[in-house]
Amino acid sequence: RQIQLANARVDKDGHKHFMAKEIAEQPVAIDRALKAYMDDDGQLSLPAELDFTKIERLTMVACGTAFYACMVAKYWFEQIARMPVEVDVASEFRYREPPVPEKTLALFVSQSGETADTLAALRYMEGKAQQIVGLVNVPESSIARESDVILPLHAGPEISVASTKAFTCQLSILLLLALRAAEQRGLPLPDGMPADLRALPGLIHQSLAAEKQITASARGLAEARDIIFLGRGQLYPLALEGALKLKELSYIHAEGYASGELKHGPIALIDEKVPVVVMAPRDALFDKTVSNMQEVMARGGKVILITDAEGAKIAGDGTHEVIVMPQVPDSLAPILYAVPAQQIAYYTAIAKGTDVDQPRNLAKSVTVE
Ligand code: G6P
Repeated sequence: RQIQLANARVDKDGHKHFMAKEIAEQPVAIDRALKAYMDDDGQLSLPAELDFTKIERLTMVACGTAFYACMVAKYWFEQIARMPVEVDVASEFRYREPPVPEKTLALFVSQSGETADTLAALRYMEGKAQQIVGLVNVPESSIARESDVILPLHAGPEISVASTKAFTCQLSILLLLALRAAEQRGLPLPDGMPADLRALPGLIHQSLAAEKQITASARGLAEARDIIFLGRGQLYPLALEGALKLKELSYIHAEGYASGELKHGPIALIDEKVPVVVMAPRDALFDKTVSNMQEVMARGGKVILITDAEGAKIAGDGTHEVIVMPQVPDSLAPILYAVPAQQIAYYTAIAKGTDVDQPRNLAKSVTVE
């Protein structure tokens, strides 16, 4: 299948599906996205109109996978830039009629730039927010046209219904924005930032190497009726994204939870038939997540742990499987862990024989309510 876009022909470049191609393209797409907003010497270069010294509050609104990118960014803006942040799904935000404090920056994140609910939420903020910023992959889109500042994603055309490279480009640019906000607010940046971000495309390339292992474990996952994803802190939204992707593509019931919520309900679901994917880089919250993971294993749950080499050494025993990611600074982990989340969904869908690029009942761009 070849797709004719307005000004380009997009094909699968030898991949079996657009999704496989778009997963593989991520190092190049992220490199392009970073270069658009960073100088060669590793300094941030964002539009001058974006002035976080004039902003006291950030509101981020989106749908689906783009919403999970906003959820991750909330951790970054709060921790790195010490800014109060609100995030919401557009379908709720638009009808809540929330009061908008003065000096609010409203940020709308959308691959297509045409999602009806996100556009309606943007229109609600017109005349209320101090500035409206659109982070979109399609610079000619409605959301772009109606934003005060447009930040193109530079992910390149994304054809597969499930968003992959747009998500990791959204995350990369949102991290740059959080760093910019911290810089402008006179706060120290995390060690090595932003220059270390230049290593991100290479790290994403390395994380793609888990593909073979994930292909094998996906055959087991394809037999499951329910699958649970757990993560804490910045990895909590990744657990949600992992579960969303998996249900979209394989039609297996999957739920993502904050690990700390396990004992408030989801643990009742655990038995030897329920695989649990735990996303836990060796960060400050690692021990907490590991103890949640042990609660799962004590009830016979089959754990697939996604961690780094250090985490694998400490907590690998007794798990069903460990998928090892490169060791990275804390703030890069959510971007990197998106890759195995995508591969798990992709290869489980392949094992089930579902239509990966065009899952039933779903649309790439949802332009109606
Ligand atoms: C649809 C797509 C998702 C996407 C969501 C938001 O549901 O299937 O992959 O995340 O819309 O789309 P947007 O274009 O606004 O990012």
